[in-house]
Amino acid sequence: MYLLESERLLFRNFTPEDCEEMFLLNADWDVLKYTGDKVFNTIAEARVFFEEYQIHTYEKIGYGRMTTILKETNEVIGWCGLKYHPDLDEVDLGYRFHKRFWNKGYGTEASIACLDYAYQKLGIKEVAAYALKENIGSCRVLEKSGFKFTGNVEREGKSWKRYCINLPFDFDVLLH
Ligand SMILES: CC(C)(COP(=O)(O)OP(=O)(O)OC[C@H]1O[C@@H](n2cnc3c(N)ncnc32)[C@H](O)[C@@H]1OP(=O)(O)O)[C@@H](O)C(=O)NCCC(=O)NCCS
Repeated sequence: MYLLESERLLFRNFTPEDCEEMFLLNADWDVLKYTGDKVFNTIAEARVFFEEYQIHTYEKIGYGRMTTILKETNEVIGWCGLKYHPDLDEVDLGYRFHKRFWNKGYGTEASIACLDYAYQKLGIKEVAAYALKENIGSCRVLEKSGFKFTGNVEREGKSWKRYCINLPFDFDVLLH
């Protein structure tokens, strides 16, 4: 059921049953404000999104974002994971967690776990990530996970900081 785990976290594919949790996540403007994501109008709308995600992403691409669970309490803290963009032929890393779980190192732990999975299990050799410069927490997670800033990218009227990491990466160097 779980695709990977890290010291404190478990990761599995989204299921339609995650719809209520993800509806609540996207209902928090502090979570969405630095992303291009939209609020789900209803839990039913979220359910349709996650039903379609099975077909359009997991079945078609073979991997995607994942529900992220805290081992200690079994709580869903949000999501994290990879996304393939066919238009750019690029894989990016993304993450969103409920606010009460911020600044405990989960973002960095999840990011490193997903990068390791990307290379070890999926054979991916390069992962990109995008964050608005105001999103200091997200930029910090990327830097703490070994990503390097590659330049600014204009998209949807906003200037995004683009980061990239080549895999495999020796994550041990980040500890020193
Ligand atoms: C981005 C996000 C996933 C980070 O997760 P997290 O679990 O808080 O990440 P970590 O605890 O591993 O690291 C956060 C780092 O940012 C730092 N940070 C956060 N906000 C900061 C701020 N306003 N100023 C300075 N540093 C800040 C923290 O101190 C920490 O760094 P440190 O370990 O050196 O002290 C989380 O904030 C989130 O879900 N945000 C909303 C969704 C989002 O913006 N996603 C990314 C879109 S690009």
